[in-house]
Amino acid sequence: MTKVLIATDKPFAPAAVNAIREVVEGAGYELALLESYTDKAELIAAVADVDGMIIRSDKATREVLEAAKNLKVIVRAGAGYDNIDLEACTEKGIVAMNTPGQNSNAVAELALGMMVFLARKGYNGKAGVELRGKNIGIHAYGNVGKHVANIAKGFGMTVYAFDPFVAKEAIEADGVKAVDTVEELYSTCHYVSLHIPANDKTKKSINYDLLNKMPEGGILVNTARKEVIDEEGMLKLMADRNDFAYISDIAPDCKDEFAAKYEGRFFFTPKKMGAQTAEANINAGIAGANQIVNLIEKGDETFRVNK
Ligand code: 3PG
Repeated sequence: MTKVLIATDKPFAPAAVNAIREVVEGAGYELALLESYTDKAELIAAVADVDGMIIRSDKATREVLEAAKNLKVIVRAGAGYDNIDLEACTEKGIVAMNTPGQNSNAVAELALGMMVFLARKGYNGKAGVELRGKNIGIHAYGNVGKHVANIAKGFGMTVYAFDPFVAKEAIEADGVKAVDTVEELYSTCHYVSLHIPANDKTKKSINYDLLNKMPEGGILVNTARKEVIDEEGMLKLMADRNDFAYISDIAPDCKDEFAAKYEGRFFFTPKKMGAQTAEANINAGIAGANQIVNLIEKGDETFRVNK
């Protein structure tokens, strides 16, 4: 019998697991569940006989993929697929997919939520500041960036965006000011919200020089990936500019230094929470399950991300 595994170190909401089960069992397949595992060996054992697999930020390394002898398709229920070894997938004839857009509203809501939290000093009773009237720059105008732009407009913020892969006209059609360079985005905006993927071109690209272009009171909001930040440059900036703050859904490796020196100038979630809503889990989970069934039954490769 065709077998599909949900392998989630950070479990989906139970309603999402039920929804995935309906799709998978409705296709006549068996569903297996591996949640909250603590050891890579558990994942390696669980993949041994599966045909399809749904993961989140779980690491689908070459070792894991080689242990999955029957695997035909792996779906990252979410946007970023930097956790999948795509080369190994291609070599083994495994189709790798993501589910773009399915969890993006949840991530965008968290970005704005964290901004309010820091602006109001963690709700400590002291006077904070408002978001209204501030400039926000959307760094990469994809699914999440668009939602952030929309919500930010509701707060009365002025929204700018930079995305070399999206036509300026398309950005401006949404009532967002498109800028020509990444430097212009950072020098114009009090807040910059990051939505770039982590890849060879973007890793460590958010560096001291770029961040130092932000105006007085600049705040970087990261719901993307910690790897895109040059942490050495970030720490230098925190030391050089006591007006600068960093908000992130993915705590940096140097988080202890923030805790020791920069109270009130940062906020990090304890665990990546952006996509952690019932709605996002259900949307991404059902999409992933349907994509697996459609690939196996009809060879439908929509949302394939490896060559
Ligand atoms: C994504 O790339 O979709 C988000 O980073 C969500 O990741 P998660 O599924 O691990 O919460």
